[in-house]
Amino acid sequence: MSADSSANLPATLKSLPADMELVLKVIPMPADCNANGDIFGGWVMAQCDLAGSVIPARYAKGRMATVAVNEFIFKQPVRLGDILSFYSKLVRIGRTSVTVTVEVFAERFRAQGEYIKVTEATFTYVAIDDDGRPRPIEKD
Ligand SMILES: CC(C)(COP(=O)(O)OP(=O)(O)OC[C@H]1O[C@@H](n2cnc3c(N)ncnc32)[C@H](O)[C@@H]1OP(=O)(O)O)[C@@H](O)C(=O)NCCC(=O)NCCS
Repeated sequence: MSADSSANLPATLKSLPADMELVLKVIPMPADCNANGDIFGGWVMAQCDLAGSVIPARYAKGRMATVAVNEFIFKQPVRLGDILSFYSKLVRIGRTSVTVTVEVFAERFRAQGEYIKVTEATFTYVAIDDDGRPRPIEKD
């Protein structure tokens, strides 16, 4: 063990982002695990896609679809028993699309009040019409 074994530990935060919006909180269950016993990455991606859609829905005001996962980083594993907080922020409103970032923070089992950033991602959603074609976003 090195003299400073804390150097390899993920940063633990005492607070959650003040400049982003809390859009989802969820606790993964045993059915969401992979063969390692950690939470399956696809489950985390699905939750992020749902969380990311919250802010764009305000602008699309109707049907929309995820067109791109521009970036997705699994910074730390998600574990059974974690309480996950999903924070989101508007990046860009285009003609038919809205892009947001999503950051996910885990409170480990028996360590509530301490937050570890486990995932960060950027998604783009497109407002679509009844035929599934892009439609312009109404600017208020
Ligand atoms: C979403 C969809 C209707 C867009 O159709 P399209 O013909 O690609 O539309 P366009 O090329 O006009 O692009 C529409 C918007 O998406 C944006 N876009 C398209 N591809 C993109 C990409 N790879 N990354 C970021 N933005 C993208 C465009 O910049 C445009 O935004 P803007 O109007 O704000 O400038 C079509 O791609 C689709 O149906 N995809 C499947 C969606 C889906 O099923 N999602 C769930 C996956 S399981």
